[in-house]
Parts: sequence; structure tokens; C-alpha cells
Amino acid sequence: MIIKTEKDIPSSEITPPEIFQERRKFIQMLGLTLAGANIPSAFAGDNKVFSNLAKSATPDNSLKPTPVELVKNYTNYYEFTFNKDDSTKLAQSMVIDPWSVEISGEVEKPATYHLEDILSQQTLEERIYRFRCVEGWSMVVPWVGFSLANLLKMAKPLSTAQFVKFTTIEQPETMPNQREKKMLDFPYVEGLRIDEAMHPLTMLAVGMYGEKLPKQNGAPLRLVVPWKYGFKSIKAIVKIELLKKPPLTTWNKSAPQEYGFYANVNPAVSHPRWSQNSERLLGSGFFTSRRQTELFNGYGEQVASLYKDMDLRHFF
Ligand code: MTE
Repeated sequence: MIIKTEKDIPSSEITPPEIFQERRKFIQMLGLTLAGANIPSAFAGDNKVFSNLAKSATPDNSLKPTPVELVKNYTNYYEFTFNKDDSTKLAQSMVIDPWSVEISGEVEKPATYHLEDILSQQTLEERIYRFRCVEGWSMVVPWVGFSLANLLKMAKPLSTAQFVKFTTIEQPETMPNQREKKMLDFPYVEGLRIDEAMHPLTMLAVGMYGEKLPKQNGAPLRLVVPWKYGFKSIKAIVKIELLKKPPLTTWNKSAPQEYGFYANVNPAVSHPRWSQNSERLLGSGFFTSRRQTELFNGYGEQVASLYKDMDLRHFF
């Protein structure tokens, strides 16, 4: 099992009241609204509680989270920089409070939600996922968040909704490459097919390693789609549109022959400039630890049926 929610947790792991109070403080620190019984129960402010959860949420104990310092300090955030070491510092200028998300398009109930109103209706979960970047490196991250499907259902998608488009905030005053219109056509846009978006593995993350998401990792709200290359996991989302047609996504637009719409992890389909057969796992043995890349990043059992009628060599 990959996803662990409160009901799956044995009573021995249920948070004692004194730690719950700590959580409460942490959640208040995040500025999240506490709505009575809807307190995000798995969103612990106490690392000890979260390390319990993390251990039990590991499907077969083989997924060992990458050291948090690496995950925080080796990031891709092109709005700020092309240098993975610099976004940690540069992203700190971002303004992320208040934050709202607009949901529109092919839905019965278009709305703009304050992030705290979204979170007050969710039970947050910790999910330990592999994360594979198209560049050939990978990591294992214990994300904290909830299923994207939960949020989409709040807007009541119409039967005409076939695709979902996600858009990152435009904040040129804090994002140098947006301001200077460098490299990519901002704002960053990503997309999923509706069945991919509704899949239970697809999540919106607000935290990682038991703490709120660092700005450089996409705070306050990012997508995580563990069977797809990392560029699909768009950061700092402010807009979600349900569409009849596939959206034109940022990387697909900038280099269509290199970055497809689907971007499912597939060791058999090389990037035009490098093989995707193996990956460098961030962590111990930083430069030498390599592992074989798995089809759908190892999540084939859960997601292969979404693509049963497609020739994956052509839909990259
Ligand atoms: N989202 C936005 N808005 N801007 C970006 O530059 N980079 C993508 C993705 N989401 C990116 C983004 C890429 S290329 C990757 S590999 C992942 O974020 C990296 O996530 P991480 O920096 O948290 O490891």
C-alpha cells in the first residue's frame, strides 16, 4: 500500500493528545484554518510523529526517503534560475500568503478558494513516492498532501471535462526569469488527462518531510504525479482549468520533440539527447548510485491500465 490515511493507521500510532496540541500549533503557524473535526489529522508539526507515519506508510520498506537537505537544495525552478543550487535562496522572496486557487472551465461550480478553505476540507496524508526527473536523476520524497481528485470534485466536473490545465503564479517582482522573459514562456503550465488527474496516486502537496513545503519546492501548493517525469509536477499552482481539449504545456511548447504531453517515465523511450534507461539516485554515493529506471517509475500496477490502448513509444 502506498497511501496511508488515518483509518489505516493502527491505534498504537494514533497521535497522543500532547502531540496533537503541538500539531495544532504547527498548523496555526502555517496559517491554516482549523475547522473543528476537519483538522488535517495527519499533518503533524512534530517530526517524531511524522517519522512514525513515514515508516508505516512505506509500502515494502524499500523506499528510503532521500536526505531532506538534498531535496531542499537541488531544485528546478526556472522562474528563478536555471541553477539547481540557487533557487533555494532566490525563491525565499516569493509571497505565498494569502494564496488562492481558481477552478474554472468545464465544471458545474467554478470558484476561487482560499488555500485554507481547501485544506480545512481535506485529511492530509503522507505519501512516500519515487520522483524521477527527465534529466536522469531521482529521489524518494515523503510528501504531505491530498488527492487532487478531492479538490476537483468540489468543483463538480462536467462530462465534457477531458483534460486539466494547471498554471503557476505570475509574480515577476520576485521571479527574475518571469520579469526578464528568459528561457521559457511563463507562466509555467502543465496538464493531465482527466482520468490521470482523478487517479488516487495524483496528489497536491502542501508539505514534505513532515514540514510545510519549502518555497523552492513549490509552496504553498504543488502537483505530484509519481509515474510521470518531474516536470509535470508543477509548483505554486494558482489556477486549475478543466478543458475539452489538451492544454499546450510549457515544456511541450518549448521543445515538442523532447518533452511530450504524457511524459510517463519509460526506460525504453530515450530522450533525443540521452538514454532514460537508468537514473542517478540522489543520496548516499551522490555521484555513483545508479538504479534502473522502471516503467511508470514503478507504479505500473496502479496506472498501466490508463494507457492500455496506447503505444507508449509514440505517446512520450
Ligand atoms: N514548476 C514550476 N512552476 N517551475 C519549474 O521550473 N520545474 C519542474 C517541476 N515543477 C518547475 C516546476 C521540474 S523540471 C522538476 S524536475 C520538478 O518541478 C522539480 O521539483 P523539485 O525542485 O521540488 O525537486
